Amino acid sequence: MAAFMRKLVLILYLSVFFCAKTISTLPIVVNTWPFTNATEAGYNQFLNGGSAVDAVEKGCSRCEVLRCDGSVGEGSDPDENGEVTLDAMIMDGETMDVGSVGCLRNISSAISVARMIMERTDHTLLAGELATKFAVEMGFKESDLSSNKSDMMYKQWKENNCQPNFRVNVSPDPKKSCGPYNPNAVLSKIQNREDKQVSYLNHDTIGMVAVDKNGHVVSGTTTNGLNHKVPGRVGDSPVVGAGSYAQNGMGGAAATGDGDIMMRFLPSYTAVQLMGSGTSPSNAALFSIKPIIKYFPDFNGAVIAVNNKGEHGAACHGSGIGTFHYSVMDNPDKVNLFSVKCV
Ligand SMILES: *[C@@H]1O[C@H](CO)[C@@H](O)[C@H](O)[C@H]1NC(C)=O
Ligand SMILES: *[C@@H]1O[C@H](CO)[C@@H](O)[C@H](O)[C@H]1NC(C)=O
Ligand SMILES: *[C@@H]1O[C@H](CO)[C@@H](O)[C@H](O)[C@H]1NC(C)=O
Repeated sequence: MAAFMRKLVLILYLSVFFCAKTISTLPIVVNTWPFTNATEAGYNQFLNGGSAVDAVEKGCSRCEVLRCDGSVGEGSDPDENGEVTLDAMIMDGETMDVGSVGCLRNISSAISVARMIMERTDHTLLAGELATKFAVEMGFKESDLSSNKSDMMYKQWKENNCQPNFRVNVSPDPKKSCGPYNPNAVLSKIQNREDKQVSYLNHDTIGMVAVDKNGHVVSGTTTNGLNHKVPGRVGDSPVVGAGSYAQNGMGGAAATGDGDIMMRFLPSYTAVQLMGSGTSPSNAALFSIKPIIKYFPDFNGAVIAVNNKGEHGAACHGSGIGTFHYSVMDNPDKVNLFSVKCV
Protein backbone atom coordinates (compact mmCIF):
# COMPACT_ATOMS: atom_id res chain seq x y z
CA MET A 1 0.00 0.00 0.00
CA ALA A 2 2.72 2.41 1.04
CA ALA A 3 4.67 1.53 -2.09
CA PHE A 4 1.60 2.11 -4.21
CA MET A 5 1.05 5.51 -2.60
CA ARG A 6 4.66 6.43 -3.19
CA LYS A 7 4.31 5.51 -6.82
CA LEU A 8 1.13 7.53 -7.15
CA VAL A 9 2.74 10.54 -5.57
CA LEU A 10 5.71 10.15 -7.89
CA ILE A 11 3.43 10.02 -10.94
CA LEU A 12 1.57 13.11 -9.76
CA TYR A 13 4.85 14.91 -9.23
CA LEU A 14 6.15 13.95 -12.63
CA SER A 15 2.98 15.06 -14.37
CA VAL A 16 3.15 18.41 -12.62
CA PHE A 17 6.73 18.84 -13.75
CA PHE A 18 5.88 17.79 -17.27
CA CYS A 19 3.15 20.42 -17.44
CA ALA A 20 5.37 23.01 -15.82
CA LYS A 21 8.05 22.50 -18.48
CA THR A 22 8.03 25.56 -20.67
CA ILE A 23 9.33 26.11 -24.14
CA SER A 24 10.84 29.48 -24.78
CA THR A 25 12.63 31.37 -27.45
CA LEU A 26 16.00 33.06 -27.38
CA PRO A 27 17.12 35.51 -26.22
CA ILE A 28 15.67 35.17 -22.75
CA VAL A 29 16.08 36.75 -19.33
CA VAL A 30 14.87 34.91 -16.21
CA ASN A 31 15.16 36.09 -12.62
CA THR A 32 14.06 35.16 -9.12
CA TRP A 33 10.94 36.80 -7.64
CA PRO A 34 8.48 39.14 -9.40
CA PHE A 35 11.21 41.75 -9.95
CA THR A 36 9.88 42.45 -13.42
CA ASN A 37 11.57 45.82 -13.85
CA ALA A 38 14.89 44.04 -13.55
CA THR A 39 13.82 41.50 -16.16
CA GLU A 40 12.87 44.30 -18.54
CA ALA A 41 16.10 46.15 -17.95
CA GLY A 42 18.01 42.98 -18.78
CA TYR A 43 16.00 42.18 -21.88
CA ASN A 44 16.32 45.77 -23.13
CA GLN A 45 20.04 45.20 -23.37
CA PHE A 46 19.39 42.50 -25.97
CA LEU A 47 17.02 44.81 -27.86
CA ASN A 48 19.74 47.46 -27.90
CA GLY A 49 22.43 45.11 -29.19
CA GLY A 50 23.96 44.37 -25.80
CA SER A 51 25.47 41.06 -24.71
CA ALA A 52 24.22 38.54 -22.15
CA VAL A 53 26.79 40.01 -19.74
CA ASP A 54 25.23 43.45 -20.28
CA ALA A 55 21.78 41.97 -19.72
CA VAL A 56 22.67 40.43 -16.36
CA GLU A 57 24.62 43.45 -15.18
CA LYS A 58 21.98 46.00 -16.15
CA GLY A 59 19.11 43.80 -15.01
CA CYS A 60 20.61 43.28 -11.57
CA SER A 61 21.62 46.96 -11.41
CA ARG A 62 18.00 47.94 -11.87
CA CYS A 63 17.11 45.99 -8.75
CA GLU A 64 19.95 47.62 -6.82
CA VAL A 65 18.64 51.07 -7.75
CA LEU A 66 15.00 50.15 -7.00
CA ARG A 67 16.08 48.35 -3.80
CA CYS A 68 13.86 45.43 -4.81
CA ASP A 69 11.99 44.11 -1.77
CA GLY A 70 14.51 45.88 0.44
CA SER A 71 16.76 42.85 -0.02
CA VAL A 72 18.81 44.13 -2.93
CA GLY A 73 21.05 47.17 -2.99
CA GLU A 74 21.74 49.76 -0.35
CA GLY A 75 19.51 51.06 2.41
CA SER A 76 18.23 47.91 4.11
CA ASP A 77 19.11 44.78 6.09
CA PRO A 78 21.90 46.15 8.29
CA ASP A 79 24.36 43.87 10.06
CA GLU A 80 24.83 43.68 13.85
CA ASN A 81 26.65 47.03 13.77
CA GLY A 82 23.98 48.72 11.68
CA GLU A 83 26.12 48.69 8.54
CA VAL A 84 24.80 47.62 5.14
CA THR A 85 27.22 45.52 3.07
CA LEU A 86 26.62 43.94 -0.33
CA ASP A 87 27.39 40.64 -2.08
CA ALA A 88 27.24 40.07 -5.85
CA MET A 89 28.58 37.91 -8.66
CA ILE A 90 28.48 37.56 -12.42
CA MET A 91 29.52 34.46 -14.40
CA ASP A 92 30.13 34.18 -18.13
CA GLY A 93 29.26 30.68 -19.31
CA GLU A 94 31.23 31.07 -22.53
CA THR A 95 34.62 31.89 -21.00
CA MET A 96 33.90 30.42 -17.53
CA ASP A 97 35.13 33.74 -16.16
CA VAL A 98 33.65 35.00 -12.90
CA GLY A 99 33.71 38.24 -10.96
CA SER A 100 32.38 38.23 -7.47
CA VAL A 101 32.45 40.47 -4.44
CA GLY A 102 31.58 39.75 -0.81
CA CYS A 103 30.92 42.04 2.14
CA LEU A 104 31.40 45.10 -0.06
CA ARG A 105 31.31 48.33 1.96
CA ASN A 106 30.31 51.80 0.81
CA ILE A 107 29.73 51.03 -2.89
CA SER A 108 26.10 50.71 -3.97
CA SER A 109 26.52 49.08 -7.40
CA ALA A 110 27.79 45.68 -6.33
CA ILE A 111 26.97 43.83 -9.57
CA SER A 112 29.00 46.36 -11.57
CA VAL A 113 31.93 45.93 -9.19
CA ALA A 114 31.61 42.16 -9.75
CA ARG A 115 31.76 42.71 -13.52
CA MET A 116 34.81 44.93 -13.06
CA ILE A 117 36.52 42.13 -11.10
CA MET A 118 35.64 39.68 -13.90
CA GLU A 119 36.91 41.89 -16.69
CA ARG A 120 39.76 43.84 -15.09
CA THR A 121 41.49 41.22 -12.92
CA ASP A 122 42.52 37.59 -13.13
CA HIS A 123 40.82 36.97 -9.79
CA THR A 124 37.41 35.54 -9.03
CA LEU A 125 36.44 36.98 -5.65
CA LEU A 126 37.32 40.15 -3.74
CA ALA A 127 36.01 40.94 -0.26
CA GLY A 128 35.47 43.65 2.29
CA GLU A 129 37.18 46.97 2.65
CA LEU A 130 39.87 46.18 0.11
CA ALA A 131 37.20 45.35 -2.47
CA THR A 132 35.95 48.88 -1.83
CA LYS A 133 39.44 50.21 -2.46
CA PHE A 134 39.60 48.29 -5.75
CA ALA A 135 36.23 49.67 -6.79
CA VAL A 136 37.29 53.24 -6.02
CA GLU A 137 40.41 52.78 -8.15
CA MET A 138 38.15 51.58 -10.95
CA GLY A 139 36.07 54.74 -10.73
CA PHE A 140 33.20 53.84 -8.39
CA LYS A 141 32.03 56.40 -5.86
CA GLU A 142 31.92 55.70 -2.13
CA SER A 143 28.78 56.51 -0.21
CA ASP A 144 26.96 55.65 2.97
CA LEU A 145 24.82 52.56 2.22
CA SER A 146 22.60 53.00 5.26
CA SER A 147 19.27 54.80 5.10
CA ASN A 148 16.51 55.91 7.45
CA LYS A 149 15.02 52.48 6.90
CA SER A 150 18.15 50.52 7.78
CA ASP A 151 18.82 52.83 10.74
CA MET A 152 15.28 52.16 11.97
CA MET A 153 15.67 48.38 11.51
CA TYR A 154 18.90 48.53 13.46
CA LYS A 155 17.40 50.65 16.24
CA GLN A 156 14.39 48.35 16.68
CA TRP A 157 16.62 45.31 16.70
CA LYS A 158 18.82 46.83 19.43
CA GLU A 159 15.75 47.75 21.45
CA ASN A 160 14.58 44.15 21.11
CA ASN A 161 17.77 42.89 22.79
CA CYS A 162 19.34 42.14 19.40
CA GLN A 163 16.74 39.49 18.51
CA PRO A 164 16.87 37.57 16.29
CA ASN A 165 20.57 37.01 15.76
CA PHE A 166 22.82 34.29 14.39
CA ARG A 167 25.08 33.54 17.33
CA VAL A 168 25.27 30.16 19.02
CA ASN A 169 27.40 28.70 21.80
CA VAL A 170 28.38 32.09 23.21
CA SER A 171 27.69 34.05 26.34
CA PRO A 172 25.87 36.10 27.34
CA ASP A 173 22.95 34.01 26.03
CA PRO A 174 22.43 35.28 22.48
CA LYS A 175 18.72 34.38 22.68
CA LYS A 176 18.33 37.02 25.36
CA SER A 177 21.16 39.50 25.15
CA CYS A 178 23.17 41.67 22.84
CA GLY A 179 26.94 41.22 22.50
CA PRO A 180 29.80 41.48 22.73
CA TYR A 181 29.94 37.71 23.10
CA ASN A 182 32.54 35.24 24.29
CA PRO A 183 32.73 31.58 23.24
CA ASN A 184 31.21 29.08 25.70
CA ALA A 185 33.55 26.48 27.14
CA VAL A 186 31.09 23.72 26.27
CA LEU A 187 29.80 23.35 22.74
CA SER A 188 26.20 22.29 22.38
CA LYS A 189 24.91 21.39 18.97
CA ILE A 190 22.17 23.74 17.90
CA GLN A 191 20.69 23.05 14.50
CA ASN A 192 17.26 24.51 14.80
CA ARG A 193 17.32 27.74 12.83
CA GLU A 194 13.57 28.12 12.94
CA ASP A 195 13.53 29.84 16.28
CA LYS A 196 15.71 32.53 14.77
CA GLN A 197 12.80 33.59 12.61
CA VAL A 198 14.76 33.20 9.42
CA SER A 199 12.01 34.10 7.04
CA TYR A 200 12.74 34.38 3.36
CA LEU A 201 11.76 38.01 3.56
CA ASN A 202 14.83 38.97 5.50
CA HIS A 203 17.34 37.35 3.23
CA ASP A 204 16.43 37.00 -0.36
CA THR A 205 18.13 38.32 -3.37
CA ILE A 206 17.90 38.73 -7.09
CA GLY A 207 19.44 35.93 -9.15
CA MET A 208 19.33 36.24 -12.93
CA VAL A 209 20.13 34.13 -15.97
CA ALA A 210 20.33 35.57 -19.50
CA VAL A 211 20.82 33.56 -22.69
CA ASP A 212 21.45 35.39 -25.97
CA LYS A 213 20.18 34.21 -29.36
CA ASN A 214 23.32 32.14 -29.92
CA GLY A 215 23.04 30.30 -26.60
CA HIS A 216 25.60 32.38 -24.70
CA VAL A 217 24.63 31.93 -21.03
CA VAL A 218 25.42 34.41 -18.26
CA SER A 219 24.24 34.36 -14.64
CA GLY A 220 24.45 36.82 -11.78
CA THR A 221 23.23 37.78 -8.32
CA THR A 222 23.17 40.83 -6.10
CA THR A 223 21.96 41.23 -2.51
CA ASN A 224 22.50 42.99 0.79
CA GLY A 225 22.38 39.63 2.52
CA LEU A 226 20.85 38.62 5.77
CA ASN A 227 19.25 41.13 8.12
CA HIS A 228 21.26 41.44 11.39
CA LYS A 229 24.01 39.19 10.05
CA VAL A 230 27.25 38.84 11.96
CA PRO A 231 29.56 41.54 10.54
CA GLY A 232 31.83 40.00 7.91
CA ARG A 233 29.25 37.42 6.84
CA VAL A 234 29.26 36.55 3.16
CA GLY A 235 26.24 34.63 1.89
CA ASP A 236 25.73 32.28 -1.02
CA SER A 237 25.15 35.01 -3.59
CA PRO A 238 28.82 35.62 -4.52
CA VAL A 239 29.84 31.97 -4.21
CA VAL A 240 30.28 30.30 -7.59
CA GLY A 241 27.90 27.37 -8.02
CA ALA A 242 25.89 28.40 -4.97
CA GLY A 243 24.39 31.82 -5.76
CA SER A 244 24.53 31.18 -9.48
CA TYR A 245 26.29 29.24 -12.22
CA ALA A 246 26.44 29.39 -16.01
CA GLN A 247 27.95 27.14 -18.63
CA ASN A 248 27.39 27.40 -22.37
CA GLY A 249 25.87 24.28 -23.89
CA MET A 250 24.18 23.46 -20.58
CA GLY A 251 22.42 26.49 -19.11
CA GLY A 252 22.35 28.75 -16.10
CA ALA A 253 20.87 28.68 -12.62
CA ALA A 254 20.53 30.96 -9.61
CA ALA A 255 19.45 30.41 -6.03
CA THR A 256 17.71 32.47 -3.37
CA GLY A 257 16.79 31.76 0.22
CA ASP A 258 18.68 30.65 3.28
CA GLY A 259 22.12 31.15 1.82
CA ASP A 260 24.10 29.96 4.81
CA ILE A 261 22.60 26.52 4.29
CA MET A 262 22.19 26.51 0.51
CA MET A 263 25.83 27.41 -0.20
CA ARG A 264 26.94 24.11 1.34
CA PHE A 265 25.22 22.18 -1.44
CA LEU A 266 26.10 24.22 -4.55
CA PRO A 267 22.54 24.03 -5.92
CA SER A 268 23.20 26.25 -8.95
CA TYR A 269 26.17 24.15 -10.03
CA THR A 270 24.15 20.98 -9.57
CA ALA A 271 21.21 22.29 -11.58
CA VAL A 272 23.43 23.34 -14.50
CA GLN A 273 25.27 20.00 -14.60
CA LEU A 274 21.95 18.15 -14.59
CA MET A 275 20.65 20.25 -17.48
CA GLY A 276 23.91 19.49 -19.27
CA SER A 277 23.09 15.81 -19.10
CA GLY A 278 19.58 16.33 -20.42
CA THR A 279 17.47 16.85 -17.31
CA SER A 280 14.65 19.37 -17.76
CA PRO A 281 15.14 22.73 -16.02
CA SER A 282 12.27 22.06 -13.57
CA ASN A 283 13.67 18.71 -12.54
CA ALA A 284 17.23 20.03 -12.44
CA ALA A 285 16.07 22.75 -10.03
CA LEU A 286 14.19 20.21 -7.93
CA PHE A 287 17.04 17.70 -7.76
CA SER A 288 19.45 20.51 -6.82
CA ILE A 289 17.51 21.24 -3.63
CA LYS A 290 16.66 17.63 -2.70
CA PRO A 291 19.96 17.00 -0.85
CA ILE A 292 19.43 20.17 1.21
CA ILE A 293 15.99 19.01 2.37
CA LYS A 294 17.50 15.79 3.64
CA TYR A 295 19.75 17.63 6.09
CA PHE A 296 17.72 20.80 6.72
CA PRO A 297 14.03 19.92 6.47
CA ASP A 298 13.01 23.45 7.52
CA PHE A 299 15.12 25.50 5.11
CA ASN A 300 13.54 28.07 2.81
CA GLY A 301 14.99 28.42 -0.64
CA ALA A 302 14.37 28.43 -4.37
CA VAL A 303 16.36 27.73 -7.52
CA ILE A 304 15.65 28.92 -11.06
CA ALA A 305 17.11 27.04 -14.01
CA VAL A 306 17.31 27.90 -17.72
CA ASN A 307 18.82 25.61 -20.32
CA ASN A 308 20.71 26.67 -23.42
CA LYS A 309 17.54 26.41 -25.52
CA GLY A 310 15.72 28.88 -23.29
CA GLU A 311 13.50 26.35 -21.51
CA HIS A 312 13.13 27.30 -17.87
CA GLY A 313 11.85 25.98 -14.59
CA ALA A 314 12.15 26.45 -10.85
CA ALA A 315 11.76 24.62 -7.58
CA CYS A 316 11.42 25.80 -4.02
CA HIS A 317 11.18 24.50 -0.50
CA GLY A 318 9.80 25.78 2.75
CA SER A 319 6.65 27.20 4.27
CA GLY A 320 8.35 30.60 4.52
CA ILE A 321 7.99 30.84 0.74
CA GLY A 322 4.99 28.60 0.01
CA THR A 323 4.71 29.55 -3.64
CA PHE A 324 7.71 30.91 -5.45
CA HIS A 325 7.36 33.41 -8.29
CA TYR A 326 9.90 34.14 -10.97
CA SER A 327 10.02 36.49 -13.93
CA VAL A 328 10.67 35.58 -17.55
CA MET A 329 11.08 37.77 -20.62
CA ASP A 330 11.54 36.15 -24.01
CA ASN A 331 9.74 38.67 -26.21
CA PRO A 332 9.82 42.46 -26.44
CA ASP A 333 6.19 42.86 -25.36
CA LYS A 334 5.97 41.72 -21.81
CA VAL A 335 7.43 39.99 -18.79
CA ASN A 336 5.68 36.78 -17.79
CA LEU A 337 5.41 35.63 -14.21
CA PHE A 338 5.65 31.92 -13.41
CA SER A 339 5.05 30.26 -10.11
CA VAL A 340 5.86 26.93 -8.50
CA LYS A 341 4.49 25.47 -5.30
CA CYS A 342 7.20 24.67 -2.84
CA VAL A 343 7.88 21.02 -2.03
C1 LIG B 1 8.70 49.48 -12.51
O1 LIG B 1 8.68 50.31 -13.63
C2 LIG B 1 7.47 50.96 -13.85
C3 LIG B 1 7.60 51.76 -15.14
O2 LIG B 1 8.05 50.94 -16.17
C4 LIG B 1 7.13 51.85 -12.68
O3 LIG B 1 5.87 52.44 -12.87
C5 LIG B 1 7.14 51.03 -11.40
O4 LIG B 1 6.97 51.85 -10.30
C6 LIG B 1 8.42 50.27 -11.26
N1 LIG B 1 8.37 49.37 -10.14
C7 LIG B 1 9.08 49.57 -9.05
C8 LIG B 1 8.95 48.53 -7.99
O5 LIG B 1 9.81 50.50 -8.90
C1 LIG C 1 30.89 54.32 4.56
O1 LIG C 1 29.76 53.85 5.23
C2 LIG C 1 29.67 54.26 6.59
C3 LIG C 1 28.42 53.65 7.18
O2 LIG C 1 28.42 52.25 7.05
C4 LIG C 1 29.62 55.75 6.70
O3 LIG C 1 29.64 56.12 8.06
C5 LIG C 1 30.79 56.35 5.99
O4 LIG C 1 30.65 57.76 5.97
C6 LIG C 1 30.87 55.85 4.56
N1 LIG C 1 32.07 56.34 3.91
C7 LIG C 1 32.04 57.10 2.81
C8 LIG C 1 33.37 57.54 2.30
O5 LIG C 1 31.02 57.40 2.25
C1 LIG D 1 15.40 60.64 7.02
O1 LIG D 1 15.21 61.16 8.32
C2 LIG D 1 15.52 62.54 8.45
C3 LIG D 1 15.35 62.97 9.89
O2 LIG D 1 15.26 61.92 10.75
C4 LIG D 1 14.61 63.35 7.55
O3 LIG D 1 14.96 64.71 7.62
C5 LIG D 1 14.76 62.86 6.11
O4 LIG D 1 13.82 63.53 5.28
C6 LIG D 1 14.51 61.36 6.03
N1 LIG D 1 14.80 60.92 4.68
C7 LIG D 1 13.97 60.16 4.00
C8 LIG D 1 14.40 59.78 2.63
O5 LIG D 1 12.90 59.76 4.46
